[in-house]
Amino acid sequence: MEKLEVIGAKRLKGNISISGSKNSSLPILAGTLLSNKKVRILNLPKVKDIETMLLLLRSLGSKIKFNKKNKSVDIHNSKNIKTYVSYNLVKTMRAGILVLGPLLARFGKAKVSLPGGCAIGSRPVDIHLKALSKLGVKYKIIQGYIHAKAPKGLIGNVIKFPKISVGATENLIIAASFAKGKTILRNCAIEPEIKDLINFLRKMGCNIKWTGQRTITIMGVQVLQNLKYKIMFDRIEAVTYMIASALTGGNLKIKNVKPKIISTEINILKRIGTKIKIKGNEINIVGKRKIKNIKLKTAPYPGFPTDLQAQLMVLLCKAEGRSEISEKIFENRFMHAPELNRMGAKIKIFGNKAIIEGNINFKAAELMATDLRASVSLILAALTAKGKSIINRIYHLDRGYEQIEKKLSNVGANIRRIS
Ligand code: EPZ
Repeated sequence: MEKLEVIGAKRLKGNISISGSKNSSLPILAGTLLSNKKVRILNLPKVKDIETMLLLLRSLGSKIKFNKKNKSVDIHNSKNIKTYVSYNLVKTMRAGILVLGPLLARFGKAKVSLPGGCAIGSRPVDIHLKALSKLGVKYKIIQGYIHAKAPKGLIGNVIKFPKISVGATENLIIAASFAKGKTILRNCAIEPEIKDLINFLRKMGCNIKWTGQRTITIMGVQVLQNLKYKIMFDRIEAVTYMIASALTGGNLKIKNVKPKIISTEINILKRIGTKIKIKGNEINIVGKRKIKNIKLKTAPYPGFPTDLQAQLMVLLCKAEGRSEISEKIFENRFMHAPELNRMGAKIKIFGNKAIIEGNINFKAAELMATDLRASVSLILAALTAKGKSIINRIYHLDRGYEQIEKKLSNVGANIRRIS
């Protein structure tokens, strides 16, 4: 089992270039199933979840070729695509559920394993299934698998999501792109990754329009074309490194980003007390000594993302005074708190609220990662703790951060992978 060894405390200085977005790549890779033409994808991040999604596509019969020179991937879902997705491909990468929509849209049937829960919550897919049945899908759950079929193909309809769901919005956008007639989706998630998915599908020949703040109107099509598409930057990775700079009193230049997409996070970091300069697709962030405490809740985009809650919590441990974070998206996303407390943090959890005492100095410790974003928060704390910290179960980390120890060592961190 691999571990990470981090020797703090180090101020980070230099440039970090941001990889492609994991959470944009996953729905786009699922969306390639709609087409029998060749698709070239650029800027896929080299992370475990993407590897697993490519394995899943291969298990369906997709032809996948890696082009070393421009680091792109060619995907050809030409013919005899299977419509069965096994549990062992979905249990670690829950986004496997995103192939349900395209398989039903193109082949009228699918047998896909229920993803099951994970450390941060039960992760149900009821919203996906109820919305798909509005397009004419009939489904049964048998021994942990979704057996779904659309005997007459998918028929357009009006669907209002009962609650904002990124995955359900993505599944339905892809499915409705091939349904007969018009579909109107209401109360959609509007994360930048969803906009990236829509841009990809439009370039493939789909007819999708934003017709309201959270409303999307889709006219089903039948013919698609070849395309080449570059995945957007990973905004969660970008802000994770911005927080690392703020935390270590560092001076980092974050490259290959679109600052306006992360304006909420930039404003919060400015409010907390960092110096941020924006120049084109680069953000320069300098950590200051004084960090202000704040009260904040996570929310769907354009609110503060739940995927940055753990990282921000580490920064708030260094603030002057008490802070508060309410986690409004997932029911169990404070698993990093007990590990941070073992490093000297003073965090108390009351239901979905965390009270964070400030002015603490992290002490190095042996730590256990529990989920993707919690594991990166432990690295952030270890970067500021004097001495050697060891972080176990870093397979969580490898799901979503490309070459993290290389990117951090290049800006002065003393971090290495040990087995
Ligand atoms: C996506 O998960 C992201 N994953 C998550 O990132 C992210 O935290 C989440 O959106 C919220 O932004 C990917 O994009 C691959 P949801 P998703 O459906 O789609 C409930 C990371 O760290 N819900 O928006 O699964 C659900 O339980 C990961 O990169 C239902 O009740 O999130 C949650 O409480 C973690 N029924 C809330 O809605 C459903 O059918 C939001 O979930 C679906 C969701």
